[in-house]
Amino acid sequence: MIENPSGLLNLITHGVYVIGVRDGERRNAFTAAWVMQVSFDPLLLAISINPGHYSYQLLKAGGVCTVNVLGQDQLAVAAHFGRSGADKMAGFDWYESSTGAPVLNCSLAYLDCRVSHYAEAGDHRIAVCEVLDGARLHAGQPLLYRQTGDMDGSRQYYKV
Ligand SMILES: Cc1cc2nc3c(=O)[nH]c(=O)nc-3n(C[C@H](O)[C@H](O)[C@H](O)COP(=O)(O)O)c2cc1C
Repeated sequence: MIENPSGLLNLITHGVYVIGVRDGERRNAFTAAWVMQVSFDPLLLAISINPGHYSYQLLKAGGVCTVNVLGQDQLAVAAHFGRSGADKMAGFDWYESSTGAPVLNCSLAYLDCRVSHYAEAGDHRIAVCEVLDGARLHAGQPLLYRQTGDMDGSRQYYKV
């Protein structure tokens, strides 16, 4: 295990996103911080996903996703989608993007993506996704991963 003295890894900045996935009639969404742009042309995003997640099954089978950008006041949304559970979309307003993946109405913005390919990354897989569409939905500043504290329980994976 690597050392993480004084939260060294926490100085790598990330936003907080809800990744909407779809395979046929099955839909789900999960919170992710490990998301970044990796190409201009074509426009590509990389999403690092734990292959043990239910959402990974839908992403792998369906091949599409949305990246929903959370705002500063949406810690509760990050926590909700950061847990596994039945029908996590219930209680949220959402609609289908052009790929069919779910867009959260409450998010600041979304990007609609199709998976291009995967890369192995230790205990995660990187889904490299082509951005096909997207829109700004609300004004506001994006939530930052460091503001979520230990919401994802990741502290246990670092030796401090
Ligand atoms: C703030 C935060 C950031 C997270 N970032 C990621 C991430 O980048 N990749 C990932 O695979 N899981 C990440 N997770 C964990 C998943 O959201 C969590 O395991 C979720 O339960 C998976 O949903 P599912 O079981 O419905 O598929 C994060 C959780 C939180 C709270």
